[in-house]
Amino acid sequence: MKVKKAVIPAAGLGTRMLPVTKSIPKEMLPIVDKPAIAYIIEEAVASGIEDILIITNRAKSAMEDYFDYAPELEANLLRTGKDELLEIARQPADNANIYYIRQKETLGLGHAVLRAKGFVGDEPFAVLLGDDIMVSQTPVIKQLIDATEKFGASAVGVQEVSLDVISRYCSLEVSPIENSIYKVTDMIEKPTPQQVFSQFAILGRYVLTSDIFPILEKTPPGYGGEIQLTDGLNTLCKQSDMVAVDFEGKRYDTGNLEGYLEATIEFALKDASVNEWLKEFIKNKANGLE
Ligand code: G1P
Repeated sequence: MKVKKAVIPAAGLGTRMLPVTKSIPKEMLPIVDKPAIAYIIEEAVASGIEDILIITNRAKSAMEDYFDYAPELEANLLRTGKDELLEIARQPADNANIYYIRQKETLGLGHAVLRAKGFVGDEPFAVLLGDDIMVSQTPVIKQLIDATEKFGASAVGVQEVSLDVISRYCSLEVSPIENSIYKVTDMIEKPTPQQVFSQFAILGRYVLTSDIFPILEKTPPGYGGEIQLTDGLNTLCKQSDMVAVDFEGKRYDTGNLEGYLEATIEFALKDASVNEWLKEFIKNKANGLE
């Protein structure tokens, strides 16, 4: 099962990051000097993905502009001999084949993924949620693709989360197969404490077969009155094999202020152009010197 296509649902309203998301898509908020969604695209490309469909909506055309050429800017950089900046400006547009489709109504993640049916056809495909930025040795979606190829199963990326926060995610019933790989037999979206199967929650990465589409077409609205991807996956894991990959890597939830600031500071600390200055600045702040 070669995985060459990816779907990035990016049609959410971004209410956790209001007011900025009134006019700027949350996926376009900068993490240092690149929009959040650029990191997701880079993870997909580094994993061998060639074609990427972004599920967008009518308020998000800034994403399309970012992954396009900018002729006026480029002409200016060329004329003024700023070759390095020209390269930086063009790179996002040359990274992958990016396609777009609009989710016309905000009816849930399952409904958003169903918009990809025509793009995907019969191939297995990756799903990367736009809020979840990962830092890992091997790209997280590649870890899932490897599991899909090895086990001939769909795969979900999981980590253990604390019981205090699991109700923000989903909870999976699993049994061990081998190191870091589990068989998935049941799952629930946004569990109450009584409904928790385990502390394993899916964190923004999936590799699915096209069998998910007829399932999603029949999945009724679930938690929050929305068509939940988790509900569709729960049906899928009962009709064909699904593995959970306890992936290596750190996840940043850039869809909320804390996660966004955490990612911004950690990425800036790794950026050679500002890290020395930033370390000094934080140290001084922490010592109450300023
Ligand atoms: C979504 C999924 C949920 C998953 C979470 C983190 O929830 O529905 O199952 O655990 O992303 O990736 P949301 O953050 O949209 O509420």
